[in-house]
Amino acid sequence: MSPFLLTRTLPEDATDAVLRADVLHGLTRTPKALPPKWFYDARGSELFEEITRLPEYYPTRAEREILLARSSEIAAATGARTLVELGSGSSDKTRHLLDELPELHTYVPVDVSESALTGAAEALLAERPSLNVHALIADFTRGLVLPATPGPRLIAFLGGTIGNLLPEERAAFLRSVRSLMDPGDALLLGTDLVKDEKVLVRAYDDAAGVTAAFNKNVLSVIARELDADVDPDDFEHVARWDRGQEWIEMRLRARHALTVKIPELDLVVPFEAGEEMRTEVSAKFRQAGVRTELASAELELTHWWTDTEGRFALSVATAR
Ligand code: SAH
Ligand code: AVI
Repeated sequence: MSPFLLTRTLPEDATDAVLRADVLHGLTRTPKALPPKWFYDARGSELFEEITRLPEYYPTRAEREILLARSSEIAAATGARTLVELGSGSSDKTRHLLDELPELHTYVPVDVSESALTGAAEALLAERPSLNVHALIADFTRGLVLPATPGPRLIAFLGGTIGNLLPEERAAFLRSVRSLMDPGDALLLGTDLVKDEKVLVRAYDDAAGVTAAFNKNVLSVIARELDADVDPDDFEHVARWDRGQEWIEMRLRARHALTVKIPELDLVVPFEAGEEMRTEVSAKFRQAGVRTELASAELELTHWWTDTEGRFALSVATAR
């Protein structure tokens, strides 16, 4: 098996500093909120993979269906020699795309989860020893710099992860992706679509409680990394559809009045009984909205495909 390159774009102590700043800000604002990128330590990444196999969680299956049906069209439309994938996780669905890109030279998976990245790169290289893999441990919301690899580049952002960014973060993110693109490069974007509220809530509040464990994992990350005195079992999982914003909001609700103590941050945070803290939004989209958001970042939607049930969409956009 050929080795893969692994580049850490932020030193570990910088990541620590960002976690501290996010926790300090998130637990002292009203209402309390934490950013979802901290779900993904090794256990969080495993729990996410478990979510993708749940009967209630349709997005992964729907996007896989589109990739299986459309990868050769994506290849023809883009002629990609480098595939960059943001928030690549296990790179599982990406295999369908990798298999259909005849000109592919290098695959660049980008993720904050080192365990997910190394696991994915090792598995891919075991199956495809001639593939060049340059994995980047990086935060795609913070000034991403890509390695010099042959163009054209296809930048894939799958799974609907764009929906985990707030609207203003999405706009900044799309502008930063656009700034990375040369003429001829393309963006491949996965977006979950607005649908029946019951289907959506079930997907984020499954019967087996895997999403609840994933949600609470952010507290385990804080307990371990910041030596915080917080018990995840003092909180319960909440998933709600916000009709106005058209997003699912995941929250953690304090089961009783309690205090979270983080001596390292000089922080003692009271929670009232029943107080809810936002841990994730998962926005759902419509075609017109995706087109408009892309256009605001000087990107033009050129292809739009959905699965047969119309639950999820994959689109291609090029620089205008
Ligand atoms: N693309 C995969 C995984 C989606 S889960 C799929 O479709 O199944 C979301 C992934 O994005 C996780 O692997 C998580 O670690 C990563 N992630 C979340 N926020 C990130 C950020 N700000 N920068 C880089 N990676 C991030
Ligand atoms: C990664 N992201 C697209 C998932 C989603 O559906 O918003 C994360 C997730 N949260 C709860 N379940 C899955």
